[in-house]
Amino acid sequence: MSKHIVIGVTGGIAAYKVLDVASKLRKLGYSMNTIMTKNAIEFVQPLAFQTITNNYVVTDTFERPYTWDVEHIALAKKADVILIAPATANIIGKVANGIADDMLSTTVMAARGKVVFAPAMNSAMYENPIVQENIAYLKEKGYLFIEPDSGWLACGDKGSGKLPAPEKIVEYVVELLEKEEEAEVVEQDLAGKNILVTAGPTIEAIDPFRYITNHSSGKMGYAIAENAAKRGANVLLVSGQTVLDCPERVERINVRSAREMYDAVHEHFDWADAVIKTAAVSDYRPKEASDHKIKKSGENLILELVPNPDILKSLGERKTHQVLVGFAAETQNVIEYAEDKIRKKNLDFIVANNIAKEGAGFKSDTNIATIIDRDGTIIEHEQMQKSELGNVILDKLKMYFK
Ligand code: C5P
Repeated sequence: MSKHIVIGVTGGIAAYKVLDVASKLRKLGYSMNTIMTKNAIEFVQPLAFQTITNNYVVTDTFERPYTWDVEHIALAKKADVILIAPATANIIGKVANGIADDMLSTTVMAARGKVVFAPAMNSAMYENPIVQENIAYLKEKGYLFIEPDSGWLACGDKGSGKLPAPEKIVEYVVELLEKEEEAEVVEQDLAGKNILVTAGPTIEAIDPFRYITNHSSGKMGYAIAENAAKRGANVLLVSGQTVLDCPERVERINVRSAREMYDAVHEHFDWADAVIKTAAVSDYRPKEASDHKIKKSGENLILELVPNPDILKSLGERKTHQVLVGFAAETQNVIEYAEDKIRKKNLDFIVANNIAKEGAGFKSDTNIATIIDRDGTIIEHEQMQKSELGNVILDKLKMYFK
């Protein structure tokens, strides 16, 4: 996907040089929008940027058909990089102090991508300790700066504060975008592998309105599915009811009950090279689900529960080449129970966690896991994001594919 740059132009004489920056970036194939402050349009006409970038220019004049409040968020989201050139002492001061009172400062405040300032101003202004302190503060917060050049300035003074040559600015931005792109490329080390992941809770009906379920959010399984797809695997996610969106390039089958999950998983078992069962399957279900809403009678109500099939165990009995990974969510004797499950369910390894611990378990975004192998190897992991743990589990799985 081509990268998008938002150029923020503020009111300095060097604004005209930024036309050349935009032109060079356009020739390299980047798409762009320009935001110009009120002062900037005193120096250069918005039409010049519009023509060069072949895209609309946003100003603070409210003349356009688009609405101001939506536009700054849209551009902030769209921008892989916001380049502010020339950046005056004013915009630097505003951002450093959290002021968002015009289109550019508001967009910067809402930005998710990198923001690069190319300061250009009179050298006395640039060297002013307040400006320098603002720059230092913004750098500390992760904002980037292209150092100004020294030389004769427009005001006739000589010193630091000159906007660097357009080539230099373009080179900086391109390098930054390329670095980001490299970081985004994920090694396709699971390419061609078919991985079936189950996630979320099951729901066991009592009557049309009531059911038995548990607190599983599905986050762990979704994180594994998402990472496996990013790493090139073909991923089938058999999911109980969750509020989570299906990750990109993952195929999802939605199920409700343990028996529905059983059917879906068995149907695709031959296809799978590995099954990772993060789902919190209900061990029991009501013997009979009433067709009608059960009325209250004032008497005790006895609900007879019958065991659900153990899906993982049944896969263990059926497995040929598949790597089987189980989860053990316990509140006590975690390791012992986990080791027992490996044997009983014929698993290759198990991810055990104590759901009673803070930072582990169902609803949390983090987990604290211990991975136990069939041969008894036990590796305890620190608390980490479920997404990161997803990759740790997939790294382990990869070893079984060899
Ligand atoms: O025996 P226990 O429920 O603690 O085992 C947990 C592991 O077994 C999980 O991987 C879970 O997805 C799976 N399981 C299953 N079918 C069940 C119960 C648990 O597949 N009925």
